[in-house]
Amino acid sequence: MDLSTNEFEAAKQLQFINKLKAQFEMDYEKTGVRKTYHIETFGCQMNARDSEKISGILKQIGYEETDSEEADFIIFNTCTVRENANNKVYGRLGNLGKLKKNKPDMIIALCGCMMQEPTVVEKIKQSYSFVDIIFGTHNIFKLAELLNTRLESDRLVIDLWKDTDMIVENLPSDRKYPFKAGVNIMFGCNNFCSYCIVPYVRGRERSRNPEDIIAEITELAKDGVVEIMLLGQNVNSYGKNLPNPITFAQLLTEIEQINGIERIRFMTSHPKDLSDELIEVMSKSEKICDHLHLPLQSGSSRLLKIMNRQYTKEGYLDLVERIRAKMPHISLTTDIIVGFPGETEEDFEETLDVVRKVKFDSAFTFIYSRRTGTPAASMENQIEESVAKERFDRLLKEVQANQKMAVTKEEKTVQKVLVEEINRQDTSLVTGRLSNNILVHFKGDSSLIGKIVDVYLDENKGFYYIGTLVK
Ligand code: 5AD
Ligand code: SF4
Repeated sequence: MDLSTNEFEAAKQLQFINKLKAQFEMDYEKTGVRKTYHIETFGCQMNARDSEKISGILKQIGYEETDSEEADFIIFNTCTVRENANNKVYGRLGNLGKLKKNKPDMIIALCGCMMQEPTVVEKIKQSYSFVDIIFGTHNIFKLAELLNTRLESDRLVIDLWKDTDMIVENLPSDRKYPFKAGVNIMFGCNNFCSYCIVPYVRGRERSRNPEDIIAEITELAKDGVVEIMLLGQNVNSYGKNLPNPITFAQLLTEIEQINGIERIRFMTSHPKDLSDELIEVMSKSEKICDHLHLPLQSGSSRLLKIMNRQYTKEGYLDLVERIRAKMPHISLTTDIIVGFPGETEEDFEETLDVVRKVKFDSAFTFIYSRRTGTPAASMENQIEESVAKERFDRLLKEVQANQKMAVTKEEKTVQKVLVEEINRQDTSLVTGRLSNNILVHFKGDSSLIGKIVDVYLDENKGFYYIGTLVK
């Protein structure tokens, strides 16, 4: 796909945005009320970033955001990584149907990963016929066009792409925070871990051009952003397929030079692609945060092979050792699945063994969820729910014990904290994050929000610190 096609697409979408904007402005002059929208985002940081793009387009058209579900335009940006994510969406859709009965002009749109599954779209057509627009993960940039079609035709608008190599740059975006921002560096995934639906719904891996990424971050920095989170399903393979290949470590080195950016985070790292070059760059960097999210999934080499993860238990432990040798203070977090088909007690013990050895600062633990279309879904040796649940509880105990330990490491030291918000429970406090992502609460006011300040960590409270601002 050449650049000019992408620029053409961006220009076309801006025309739709402007057309609707003129229409909305006329309506506003007549009624004196602005139309409202509400986005519900399920799932991961990728979806959160996509929702900012959706929000940007809608604000440009003239919609105002509302917290209420009784908006003129409702969008559910869905997730399908586990079955319970889907169930949540169906539950919420039931409620929306009732709301729409009293507000027939309401427009309901569904997008995101769930919509990339044909069976889901069939079910929605059958059982939730009040839905107006369905689009997927590859064509968010087309929202204004789809909305225009819906307003003109009064019929269900479905626009789903199986895959794309198009990356449309420079459309509007509405950032949730003024001081920190997510930046996509790549889309899709090529790994096909045997349990995972992501490669089927997000398509093949494609990296953005480094120039576009650097330009976006430079603009963000000018706009007051101090922390960025680079987003991709597997950031360690960034740039491999670009016409002029570049490594993730090289990209980081370039981003590091952007004035105004003080903290760089990224996720997710696949252990199989984490290079010594990256470890080197991270260890020398002043800006890359002391945090690495490194999904383990299982500690059993036998299961890792069936999961198609392409590393072994020993390989993972060796990698952790190499990382810690260069960065002794780094916070390591992970994802773990229990109850993968065929998981034996011995396999599970191997997972516990890695958890005990690595002592992760924190871990997201999941019970395996059978995703139709993935190789693992058709494996015959599925695990009984009760067995998986029992293992899950044992794992959680182990993980939480480590997590408590992790929040003792910086006690009674001064650390840099990015202040993010007024504390929700006690408004005399503000809440911020350490470089390693741990939360800190301390006395302060809204003038500190968005600033990086020195805080003395008086006391650890299990999963967070209570501190004092150092003047
Ligand atoms: N069942 C349970 N957990 C899953 N994950 C991905 N697919 C599944 C599944 N089918 C978890 C993995 C991944 C995280 C984002 O979600 O641990 O790292
Ligand atoms: Fe899913 Fe594996 Fe790709 Fe992560 S790396 S999105 S777990 S297939």
